[in-house]
Amino acid sequence: MQRQALAWRREGRSVGFVPTMGYLHEGHLSLIRRARREVGPGGLVVVSIYVNPTQFGPTEDLDRYPRDVRRDLRLCREEGVDVVFLPSDASMYPGRDRGDYSTWVVEEQLTRSMEGSSRPTHFRGVTTVVAKLFHLVLPDVAVFGAKDYQQAAVIRRMVRDLNFPIRIVVAPTVREPDGLALSSRNAYLSPAERGQATVLWRAIQEARRRVRAAGANGVAAGTLRRMVERLVAGCPDARLDYVEFFEPESLRPLKRVARGAHMALAVWVGRTRLIDNGRLR
Ligand code: PAJ
Repeated sequence: MQRQALAWRREGRSVGFVPTMGYLHEGHLSLIRRARREVGPGGLVVVSIYVNPTQFGPTEDLDRYPRDVRRDLRLCREEGVDVVFLPSDASMYPGRDRGDYSTWVVEEQLTRSMEGSSRPTHFRGVTTVVAKLFHLVLPDVAVFGAKDYQQAAVIRRMVRDLNFPIRIVVAPTVREPDGLALSSRNAYLSPAERGQATVLWRAIQEARRRVRAAGANGVAAGTLRRMVERLVAGCPDARLDYVEFFEPESLRPLKRVARGAHMALAVWVGRTRLIDNGRLR
């Protein structure tokens, strides 16, 4: 992959990159289309499919994470993707099975809250694998989804702090008609759970309504949190992991929430952990 990327660079071709863990859905495909727009007609679009083991905790769903590489390759072909990069664990983490893989990329501020506090080693795995993929694919532009808002913020920070010569584009969240954000993990949901899974979107919309109605003074974060807790409590199989209201760039938590603030939440629906977020505008 890196040899190919260096050859493209010598030819002066622009490369757009979409990193994924596969089991592709319309959310991923929207990023692929965005990457194509970003690089233009003479450019190249690379998609990586790699279920990165280091971003899963020891009790998480690495072993049952959904996979269908044949279908993914068909979808990529239909989208006109130029190269699909499918690295192996042995090439990405040489020596890890013997315990001698030992270099990591760690972001120390934006990763403290939310996904970072619920999943303590998650972002170390994400920043490390994305840094490695950037070194292998050598893209001019990389496209991430707003669905994983904190992840996109962390990647932007890594790129800034470590001088990666890569432009980061964040594309909007693609949703089902009832508001559920598309996610490979939605495949885990039973029909009853699928019905309850709309609670994340309903919580975001209700917070938006209340913040709009409140005007310049905004609403106390505690009031919004209790509203979200009540909504989730109304779903028999759902349990709130966290809900945060924060400043959209720094991710600093807010005590009072007015328009322009950002909100993110994680909810267990049965054995499936779902996340979502939205700007309160
Ligand atoms: P994965 O969950 O496969 O997501 C790949 C990309 O698709 C991410 O940028 C994610 O934000 C985006 N995405 C997922 N669902 C989306 C939706 N409904 N709308 C728009 N974009 C969506 O995120 C990862 O993989 C991994 O952490 C990765 C960055 C590949 C590193 O391993």
